[in-house]
Amino acid sequence: MKAKQNAKTDALTWIVTGGAGFIGANFIFYMMENYPDERVVCLDKLTYAGNLSTLKSVMEKPNFRFAYLDICDREGVRRLFAEERPDIVVNFAAESHVDRSIETPDVFLNTNILGTSTLIDACREFGISRFHQVSTDEVYGDLPLDRPDLFFTEETPLHTSSPYSASKAGADLLVMAYHRTYGLPVTISRCSNNYGPFHFPEKLIPLMIINALHDKPLPVYGEGVNVRDWLYVEDHCRAIDFIVRHGRVGEVYNVGGHNERRNIDIVRSICRELGKPENLITHVTDRKGHDMRYAIDPSKIQRELGWLPKTNFEDGLKKTIRWYLEHERWWKEIISGEYRNYYEKMYGSRKVIS
Ligand code: NAD
Ligand code: TYD
Repeated sequence: MKAKQNAKTDALTWIVTGGAGFIGANFIFYMMENYPDERVVCLDKLTYAGNLSTLKSVMEKPNFRFAYLDICDREGVRRLFAEERPDIVVNFAAESHVDRSIETPDVFLNTNILGTSTLIDACREFGISRFHQVSTDEVYGDLPLDRPDLFFTEETPLHTSSPYSASKAGADLLVMAYHRTYGLPVTISRCSNNYGPFHFPEKLIPLMIINALHDKPLPVYGEGVNVRDWLYVEDHCRAIDFIVRHGRVGEVYNVGGHNERRNIDIVRSICRELGKPENLITHVTDRKGHDMRYAIDPSKIQRELGWLPKTNFEDGLKKTIRWYLEHERWWKEIISGEYRNYYEKMYGSRKVIS
């Protein structure tokens, strides 16, 4: 890693974008706990998915700063880089929900592609040791259900299905182009579906936990046979840390723990854990263009960096459910606001099919 220049200390300064969201916040907690001497600057626009209360426990720490900023705001981003002279930039900031991308694709293109370009331009101008792009396995499209032998590798062609995944793939291509053209020291991680604390309630696992707690219908899209590959969020954070510190520049690393589950089985497990009846499960109109199966081959990150997940799905799901039971205040605040309109709009028009 390049020695820090123009700085008062040798400690690394990180800019973590999207740190008020689910994975970014968990990454900040991981960093503050494991590297208390390094400085973390969280840059976040606080969209509906960003929540300052999530960062309450780190807000007053002397090595933490929150910058309220849009990654598309070129001047603002330049100012922040000029002030902080970051060594490392990790870009979590994104519009992240597939269902919303089907309703309003333009917001996704703006933040996910143009926002990323703003950040990498600032990285070029000010010089950094590493720009890390947090991408997703969704850029590979999907796999058929009847070919369990197939997995996404880093060589799998990009083949996107939703405006969300297309915008993430666009950003990945741009990041790689900046590496090749300008020599920008970049890495990319493509992780499978995450779950854990502070997950926004619009996503499958928290939505089902919260609906079940209220004895509300559990809206499973279609038959519920679509498969996702789940990873506990802290394992993803550790993978990013390994990639940034030890990964090879210009490389993509897939991140996953071979944890494939059908949606319907996840929802049943949640019912079982909470002692709720399965007749809450309601099959509703399927998502447009719904990807069938995601499955990551994580052998590259295991082989090169020695990364392995630490939390298995059964323990992780129990921990996550317990977290939601113990942090009612956090999610109740969220579901009492704009989320209600979102839920009404997104689910009110979905036909019950069984
Ligand atoms: P999230 O929606 O919970 O959080 C996104 C954060 O980005 C929020 O704090 C939001 O305020 C911020 N943000 C959005 N637009 C912004 C902008 N223009 N400027 C500054 N900040 C902005 O998302 P997440 O689930 O934490 O995902 C984080 C990253 O990880 C995303 O890039 C996503 O594509 C990727 N990813 C997510 C998963 C998953 O399962 N959630 C899996 C693989 C990869
Ligand atoms: P989601 O959490 O939105 O993540 P992604 O689409 O990025 O994988 O959805 C996970 C799976 O759960 C996906 O196959 C869609 C399905 N799903 C439902 O069946 N019902 C729901 O209410 C939601 C939000 C998702």
